Amino acid sequence: MTDVTPARIFEVATGFMAAKHLFVANEVGLFEKLAKGPATLDELTERIGIPRRTTRIVVDAMVALGFVERQGDRYQNGPVADSFLSGRAPTDLRLLLRYFNRLLYPTWMKLEEAVRTGQTPSQQFQFTEEDQRLFSEGVEAFSAGQAQALAANYDFSRHRSVLDLGGGTGSFLIAVLSQHSGLDGTLFELPGAAAVARQRLVGSPFAGRIRVEEGDFFKTSIPGGHDAIIVANVIHVFSSERNLELLRRIREFVSDGSRLLLVDLWTDPTHTQPLFAALMAGAFLLRSGEGDVYSEEEVRAWLKTTGWRPLERKPLAGPASLIVAEKG
Ligand SMILES: C[S@@+](CC[C@H](N)C(=O)[O-])C[C@H]1O[C@@H](n2cnc3c(N)ncnc32)[C@H](O)[C@@H]1O
Repeated sequence: MTDVTPARIFEVATGFMAAKHLFVANEVGLFEKLAKGPATLDELTERIGIPRRTTRIVVDAMVALGFVERQGDRYQNGPVADSFLSGRAPTDLRLLLRYFNRLLYPTWMKLEEAVRTGQTPSQQFQFTEEDQRLFSEGVEAFSAGQAQALAANYDFSRHRSVLDLGGGTGSFLIAVLSQHSGLDGTLFELPGAAAVARQRLVGSPFAGRIRVEEGDFFKTSIPGGHDAIIVANVIHVFSSERNLELLRRIREFVSDGSRLLLVDLWTDPTHTQPLFAALMAGAFLLRSGEGDVYSEEEVRAWLKTTGWRPLERKPLAGPASLIVAEKG
């Protein structure tokens, strides 16, 4: 007799229900409303302004998943929801959940087709203005911990000027420049994302230290004069061939001794660890039509092929890590 049960299948197969319940709880403002204080179902229903019956379904799902606690007839945020979803704490993952719910989740309807055919409807970062904001702000929330960890754990004192290629909203540059007063930075982005970054920088204390340049790093010149180049969560957007091309192009535009800081969900050689990366491979495939996760070994091989000298790998926040290389 074995102890094999189908429990794991049920657990994983209902994962989409857990995710969607969480997204909806976030969308209706459940955690923000509970941040005002514990509430009975009637009080919560009134605070949110949706039917009592459906409030009960969503809040009880959150209790079952461990995000909300129930004491007697009162509900309150648990520690994780209170720290990351209530809107009160410095780390705010509400925008990540909004991005997952409104943009990412619908694209997953195409995963079967993509897997069967190897073809994906390539979106290549063509967004409406509203979707661009959802995407840029969602990715910023996704990578906020990485940005803080990079600023704290990599020694920027040897650098004078940082270029962030595909730098999103500028969140990595802001994190780095806020900890290193002698640095200035350039954000290089496609026009839609560059517009979000410019708006984000208006009135910020970093506006004078960060230039925003629009372009396509496969087509236009990459801005020169920088000695550290951040490439964060960009390699996973592209195929191996295009990544080789990108690494070659970056090398052409920077001087000897410049450092390349590659931040991503680098995996083990089998692409199965970390689990988060193995799952996100589907999202990367669907986002650009060619994305994937890559192992440290693959990246080191590309770096050598394109004339970069790999130096080290450092852990960052959660499953993300940093690979550092130098132009020799
Ligand atoms: C997943 S996001 C990462 C954003 C940011 N680096 C971060 O980690 O938060 C990838 C970014 O690459 C930018 N990007 C994609 N293709 C690009 C290209 N050809 N030239 C410049 N930027 C590009 C996208 O606009 C997007 O903001």
